[in-house]
Amino acid sequence: MQDREISTILSVRNLNVRFGRSSIPAVSEVSFDLGRERLGIVGESGSGKSTTGRAIMRLLSPSAEISAERFDLAGNPLLEKTERQMGALRGKEMALIMQDPRYSLNPVLTIGRQVAEAARLHLGLGRAQAMESARSMLQRVRISDADRVMALYPHQISGGMGQRVMIAMMLLAKPKLVIADEPTSALDVSVRKDVLVLLDELVRENDSGLILISHDIRMVAAFCERILVMYAGRVVETLTSLDDARHPYTRGLIAALPDPRHPVRRLKVLDRKALEAEAAQ
Ligand SMILES: Nc1ncnc2c1ncn2[C@@H]1O[C@H](COP(=O)(O)OP(=O)(O)O)[C@@H](O)[C@H]1O
Ligand SMILES: [Mg+2]
Repeated sequence: MQDREISTILSVRNLNVRFGRSSIPAVSEVSFDLGRERLGIVGESGSGKSTTGRAIMRLLSPSAEISAERFDLAGNPLLEKTERQMGALRGKEMALIMQDPRYSLNPVLTIGRQVAEAARLHLGLGRAQAMESARSMLQRVRISDADRVMALYPHQISGGMGQRVMIAMMLLAKPKLVIADEPTSALDVSVRKDVLVLLDELVRENDSGLILISHDIRMVAAFCERILVMYAGRVVETLTSLDDARHPYTRGLIAALPDPRHPVRRLKVLDRKALEAEAAQ
């Protein structure tokens, strides 16, 4: 019990998020604990996955009302932090990798400058050391011609390369918690797996906890030990294997994705009737 407490990175109890006067909460009564492990959050579009991830980073729009019985990062209540304190945690203790690196990277700074800036900020390095650290981190994410890439601007690199740069920048300070929100959805299919394998490798090397958010339940199942299935803001099921899926919604998510073994199978529409029947019970 004691060990479990110590190794818990994130503890969430009854998280609720509501935007403005909206009558329907975006996130309702979500609870989970995260240790040094990989947790997936899946669900269809609008189910509250990103809102959950952004709430943890405290990066929701000002109209969002957040409440939780517990919302702790390594025992520290996140909801009590000032914006300034949150700023110090972001990047250093917790990092968010988003879908499209083109919108996350600064368009007017070279790749080298922005990775080095992250090294200066989070590792407290001087200019020359920060450049050296940026170079080795870019090599670590398998950018072989790091010197050439460092001189380029974000629009001059591919999406896959951009996401490697983001991973390098975000994981530089070895944050305890990494949240990856659809990290490969904007990338070419051919590079998706490589980017995920790399992310997984670095997260394990750093002994961080990972929350991998995606609508692709099979992809998440391949990387995570545990999966939370969200529907309409709620966790409807927690799985350790897709074979254990009981909820009709989860089965719908599994069936809605093309099975790599049967690539031409028709896509199924989620079974609303079964869902409503379940909800009525
Ligand atoms: N800034 C916002 N203002 C108002 N509603 C929002 C905002 N962000 C998200 N929502 C609403 O919250 C719900 C959950 O959205 P989101 O967390 O983005 O879902 P997902 O990531 O699972 O697709 C949706 O109904 C969405 O419209
Ligand atoms: Mg989302």
